[in-house]
Amino acid sequence: MKGIILAGGSATRLYPLSKALSKQMMPVYDKPMIYYPLSTLMLAGIREVLIISTPRDLPMFRDLLGDGSRLGMTFQYVVQEEPNGLAQAFVLGADFLNGEPGCLILGDNLFYGQGFTAMLQHAKEQCKEKGACIFGYYVKDPRAYGVVEFDANCHVVSIEEKPENPKSQYAVPGLYFYDATVVDKAAKLKPSERGEYEITDLNKCYLEEGTLHVELFGRGFAWLDTGNCESLLEASNFVATIQNRQGFYVSCIEEIAWRNGWITTEHLHQLGLEHSNTAYGNYLIQLLH
Ligand code: DAU
Repeated sequence: MKGIILAGGSATRLYPLSKALSKQMMPVYDKPMIYYPLSTLMLAGIREVLIISTPRDLPMFRDLLGDGSRLGMTFQYVVQEEPNGLAQAFVLGADFLNGEPGCLILGDNLFYGQGFTAMLQHAKEQCKEKGACIFGYYVKDPRAYGVVEFDANCHVVSIEEKPENPKSQYAVPGLYFYDATVVDKAAKLKPSERGEYEITDLNKCYLEEGTLHVELFGRGFAWLDTGNCESLLEASNFVATIQNRQGFYVSCIEEIAWRNGWITTEHLHQLGLEHSNTAYGNYLIQLLH
């Protein structure tokens, strides 16, 4: 399976931070925000990734991440001229996917919790042949999100985008697994009233087809998005708290590449040595002990 990170948009709610800088490049504690969604794809075992961003910001992501070979991965880049909606990622990514299943993650979503890797592998398996797998997460106020409704047997009944009167407390996080039919489905969508190709409409195609799976994250799991200054600070504090308590880094992409067996121990050591004057570089080196 291939992965797409959508890292565009104008992030107006983060003004003036976002005036000259992409939101997904901003720090979440000690790393650029995009490291977090990238690490999620890596935990899912996805090695080929397309990064989509604005004409202004794409060159910076290319500078940051390169061609992926440092991580034993392959990165490609495509511009989204206007923020026309999340589902457009699959039209822009059609050549990249080349008829294969795809996973989309939003560049401002951060996931953390025990059992996550197994959930990702399971989601990937579920839609390898046919169907889609999305997630549900209980939140206090789901009105800013896609909201999924279940019947008594936990079957999905409806999905709505940003409903004023949500039918459940379950928000849909920005992480979506789809089979190989996703590009055709995305290409047939019509823009919504707010003029966007909605990911929720894409999910509804699978719901109508009877092939939409929804996995629920439990309350011990963290899903954070970083749309405004408060949530950005909360995400930073969350990462700092975990890292300082445990000594393990959250979403260290070099560590995951190494644990996945995509880079050798010598290579990891070399990456650490390149930045041995930083805590990050030293973390890579001490992993080997
Ligand atoms: O975070 C999860 C939510 O993401 C889902 O629950 C919703 O169903 C989904 O529509 C989306 O809602 P948002 O209100 O968060 O979408 P937003 O327009 O803020 O876009 C999410 C991120 O994607 C944001 O960092 C900007 C980027 N983006 C957005 C659009 C519309 C793009 O790169 N291109 C776009 O065209």
